[in-house]
Amino acid sequence: MRVDVLTLFPGIFDGPLDQSILLKAREAGLMSVEVHDLREFAEGKHRVTDEPPFGGGGGMVMKPEPVFAGVESLKGRFGPGKVILLSPQGERLTSALARQLAEVSHLILVCGRYEGVDQRVADHLADLEVSIGDYVLTGGELPALVLIDSVARFLPGVLGDPQASSRDSFEEGLLEAPQYTRPREFRGYTVPEVLLSGDHAAIGRWRREEALRRTRLKRPDLLD
Ligand code: ADE
Repeated sequence: MRVDVLTLFPGIFDGPLDQSILLKAREAGLMSVEVHDLREFAEGKHRVTDEPPFGGGGGMVMKPEPVFAGVESLKGRFGPGKVILLSPQGERLTSALARQLAEVSHLILVCGRYEGVDQRVADHLADLEVSIGDYVLTGGELPALVLIDSVARFLPGVLGDPQASSRDSFEEGLLEAPQYTRPREFRGYTVPEVLLSGDHAAIGRWRREEALRRTRLKRPDLLD
């Protein structure tokens, strides 16, 4: 999978993509991520990327031209891609959406900033608008990283264990059962006996019951 990111703040992406599983996925050629500075697609001596909104109201709005030019340049160089605008008004990112996006061979992520992005980007350029939750962040950069991370986990070969992502929370509409590791006892806190029993059928039943119990307790909305 190829991911191109268009942003006014490429530096935000430096750390997170260069660690742990995302780094390994990139090194193994399972996912390539390239971050592009939107300012490079802005015209004029000052390369202006934002202007005050028509109709007033304060704040700044990202101009459409650099975003259109950036996306068109990326499509010209790397072929067709699914264009996603990160915005609090988008479809909510879920495990199901991440799994679906992992099937796409080329994603172009557009990170909004300031008070917003000219509506023509959402209306005539983006294929999809995605939000990572009902709160407003200072820009689409962190949401783009969240999306990249959640999608990467569904790419074949990225997680060492091919079944790992399907055992995760949300995959069967349930939260995951609790996990324990050594030591068996820590400060008097013990590990559920069944996990030490070696009885895999019993462990499977226990995990299923725990997943249901936790979901009922913490996220009853998932059971509706
Ligand atoms: N940009 C600002 N807030 C956002 C959010 N919650 N999701 C996606 N993009 C955003």
